[in-house]
Amino acid sequence: MKKTIITLPGDGIGPEVTDVAVNVLKAACLPFDVEIETIERNFGGSGYDIDGVPVTKETLELCKKHKSVLLGAVGGPKWENLSSELRPEAALLALRRELGVYANLRPIRVHSALAGASALKEEIISGTDILIVRELTGGIYFGEPRFTVEENGDTFSVDTMKYSRNEVRRIARKAFEAAMLRSKKVCSVDKANVLESSRLWRNSVEEIGAEFPEVELTHMLVDNCAMQLIRNPKQFDVILTGNLFGDIISDEAAMLTGSIGMLPSASLGNGNGLYEPVHGSAPDIAGTGAANPLAAVASAALLCRYSLQLKEASEDIERAVQAVLNQGYRTEDIFRGRSGTKLVGTHEMGDKLIRNLKAHTY
Ligand code: NAD
Ligand code: IPM
Ligand code: MN
Repeated sequence: MKKTIITLPGDGIGPEVTDVAVNVLKAACLPFDVEIETIERNFGGSGYDIDGVPVTKETLELCKKHKSVLLGAVGGPKWENLSSELRPEAALLALRRELGVYANLRPIRVHSALAGASALKEEIISGTDILIVRELTGGIYFGEPRFTVEENGDTFSVDTMKYSRNEVRRIARKAFEAAMLRSKKVCSVDKANVLESSRLWRNSVEEIGAEFPEVELTHMLVDNCAMQLIRNPKQFDVILTGNLFGDIISDEAAMLTGSIGMLPSASLGNGNGLYEPVHGSAPDIAGTGAANPLAAVASAALLCRYSLQLKEASEDIERAVQAVLNQGYRTEDIFRGRSGTKLVGTHEMGDKLIRNLKAHTY
């Protein structure tokens, strides 16, 4: 059977890590008689350089048609001074919006082999297993109005934090459903002591919570959450939050795992799936071969699970990730110079993953 996915490698380390993820994905699907066909398109800053826009309408249509998209990363200093609609990040926001992928799932799992790799103490982080459910197509990222004006000799810029009850309800439902398959705890994170939109958020989450009596629902203010994630991350199971807060706390939570290069994501909605590492284009290491591809690879595992319905292939990829870590292979970001560990580059890590996949599945 042939399955087609769209790949959007993007900018900086995006192409490097996507290349590894695609190779791993293909190798993992082969034993299940699934041949992965990829259609690659320009995207982000590199897309702008070629097409004059960071994403073309044709690419957006293609993504909608094929419904599953593997993305690398976008952005970089080269494109920072473009107008907001031409910036690489605008392509990503347009894609999320067009696909209607409102539910961004960001699993934070501390691999036992990396328990000593975090900046935090091992006993604090070992065993951490959190799912951040971030609302992805609303909130301050998309709220209108949004403008800049010159007035009374000063400049004013406006962004709008807006949520509707139904937007909150649908993302809350995703969080509760996920919690039912995990430890049955949802912590909803907001800023209800200050923001009107957060009070609606809290209230709407409560409504959905009532439909899931088995799930323990708590609320936490986002500033406290930022602190609690470092103080005692194991208290969390599912964290449900809005677009902006979810963006910030997921980078923070990445540090529990040892590196932002470990964090995958799946964005779901409307029957579509967009899979991308949580990290950005890492301009500081782009082209050096040092990028950690494991976030992209784990995102490909999520693609297998949610878009291709190949649960076993997805688990094989996750086991291969576990195996390379247990074997001591580390990219620079997670290399701590311990005995039994070996520093590898992006593609070498890919080769090790494929070797493990073959050993496990053929
Ligand atoms: P970043 O995630 O690109 O990098 C932050 C730090 O983490 C850097 O030191 C980088 O080297 C390191 N890092 C990130 N990914 C890594 C990996 N896989 N392996 C090893 N180290 C890694 O964040 P930033 O520097 O704030 O942003 C750079 C650009 O990326 C900006 O233009 C931003 O808009 C964009 N960005 C894009 C996405 C995306 O495409 N989804 C996400 C975040 C940031
Ligand atoms: C992420 C990124 C994006 C976001 C940017 C690049 C638009 O930081 O996916 O976490 O803020 O959603
Ligand atoms: Mn981010």
